[in-house]
Amino acid sequence: MRTQIVAGNWKMNKTFEEADDLINDIVDFVKNHNLENTAVIICPPSVYLELATDFANETNLHVGAQNLSNYESGAYTGEISAPMLESMEVGYCIIGHSERRKYFNETNEMIAEKVNMALKYNISPIFCCGELLPEREKGNHFDIVKKQLEESVFHLNKTDFGNIIIAYEPVWAIGTGVTATSDQAQEMHYYIRSLIKEKYDEETGESTTILYGGSCNSKNAKELFANPDVDGGLIGGASLKSDEFIKIIQSIDD
Ligand code: PGA
Repeated sequence: MRTQIVAGNWKMNKTFEEADDLINDIVDFVKNHNLENTAVIICPPSVYLELATDFANETNLHVGAQNLSNYESGAYTGEISAPMLESMEVGYCIIGHSERRKYFNETNEMIAEKVNMALKYNISPIFCCGELLPEREKGNHFDIVKKQLEESVFHLNKTDFGNIIIAYEPVWAIGTGVTATSDQAQEMHYYIRSLIKEKYDEETGESTTILYGGSCNSKNAKELFANPDVDGGLIGGASLKSDEFIKIIQSIDD
């Protein structure tokens, strides 16, 4: 059975104290519940990663960054490198999020470099793909997602690809309160899985975890996660409140 994952993308939110409280609540929950086949990952802002990994060490909570540099080290003021993250025991990194594509001009090519950098330092990329609203309205959503996969992750060999988590995040659903319907999510996840099978093989396709992201919350999570090709979620807004995030974790694990 594929690993089911609930990952929280905190984006640029929370003060130190608020971050501390939220991590504590999640750690308490994870510690006291036997999550059978579900991994919980939190992706706080980078300044709180150490706080998170300190707590995570005591539990089976996992920690991810929200971004890393495509450079290894050097004079890149403000950037955070893969070796730095590895040295802090950060096991995951969101790469290719639509907000980074939009506000920081990240291209598929740059995202491919970041994916390579992450893998070189034993960090599993949570690779985000997804179409804009006009692209879906024109019926181009499958082609857009295919191109994102081809240009950013399909250059990997099978072993490296095995360390990737895919997150399908239709951009029109992110932070808008408009969620993809359960059928829309399943249809795209099935398509992504079939592309992986075509590119690699049946087994790789079957074992790749594909998350849904975009206005996922405690009310719609259960229905979304019940789809055969939806293996959990990348949660933004709803990961900022512990009770809401915990309900989402519970909706996948029961
Ligand atoms: P959202 O964000 O849940 O707030 O829509 C998801 C994401 O951007 O990863």
